[in-house]
Amino acid sequence: MNSYLEQYQLYRDAVEQALPGYLPDSGGPHRTVEEAMAYSLLSGGKRLRGVLVLAFHAACGGDYRQALPAACALEMVHAYSLIHDDLPCMDDDDLRRGKPSCHVRYGEAMALLAGDGLLTHAFQVLSTCCGQLPQERVCAAIAALSTAAGTGGMIGGQVIDIQQEGKEISPQLLNILHRMKTGALIRASIRIGCITAGASAEELAAADRYGENLGLVFQIIDDILDVTSTPEQLGKPVGSDAENRKTTYVTLYGVEGARRMAREIAREGAGALKGTRLDQSFFREMSQQLLQRTM
Ligand code: IPE
Ligand code: IPE
Ligand code: MG
Ligand code: MG
Ligand code: MG
Repeated sequence: MNSYLEQYQLYRDAVEQALPGYLPDSGGPHRTVEEAMAYSLLSGGKRLRGVLVLAFHAACGGDYRQALPAACALEMVHAYSLIHDDLPCMDDDDLRRGKPSCHVRYGEAMALLAGDGLLTHAFQVLSTCCGQLPQERVCAAIAALSTAAGTGGMIGGQVIDIQQEGKEISPQLLNILHRMKTGALIRASIRIGCITAGASAEELAAADRYGENLGLVFQIIDDILDVTSTPEQLGKPVGSDAENRKTTYVTLYGVEGARRMAREIAREGAGALKGTRLDQSFFREMSQQLLQRTM
């Protein structure tokens, strides 16, 4: 059995190798937008969402290679969300994955379009799974991704995030905001891994509970790193939340308080898979690793 890190690396490398082949490359008069899409998509990152698709697909008995288009589609939607999140009208951040943000390199209009391009293209890529997987599973995956990325998920979370700038918000609303802006795509990655492998309703429900907690932990640690890390380590600016006067887990509970909460939520999440074949050391370890992450 591979160690957690070896397993993560295997899935991450598979996503990394597959991504370029799924990008449009027309060489046409509109190629600037294709270059901007590639610039942001192929600039590294942890590939957590892609890894989750592959790992849950394999845990539900599938061959992870068949889920590669789905994993790449998730990374495309994620990369689009980062490009738009960094725009001057949003968080106004100039650094992403250790490089100038898309709008700094290509200008605002092209960054906006590159984000739109990645979002749209993700669904084309996801539909290519039809070659290897039953069509009803692919349709269910498309429904899961569009729901998670839409106004009831990531977009809705970003709306609340922008509207709360400079205001005091309740712990309840912050929890909802985090579950939507970050949790929705993380949950969708897990769900899509399961759906494309033909998971049972019981497995899906357990995976959803695990994903709910993992997504929340992920964003709480993101809030903490915005205060405690460095741009060199994170590859993105620190202090962005304070600059934009956001309420975060850190402003509400302090760094130690937020960390304690993340630990508790991670512990609960790891237990959610018990009693199913998804109760594997890789997923237990992942909860721990995401708590301790430094980038
Ligand atoms: C950053 O996501 C945006 C959030 C949802 C917090 P990641 O920390 O997963 O970014 P990459 O993909 O590793 O760059
Ligand atoms: C963004 O949250 C979540 C997205 C939907 C992209 P943040 O604004 O905290 O993400 P970072 O810190 O810029 O990566
Ligand atoms: Mg933001
Ligand atoms: Mg941001
Ligand atoms: Mg952040």
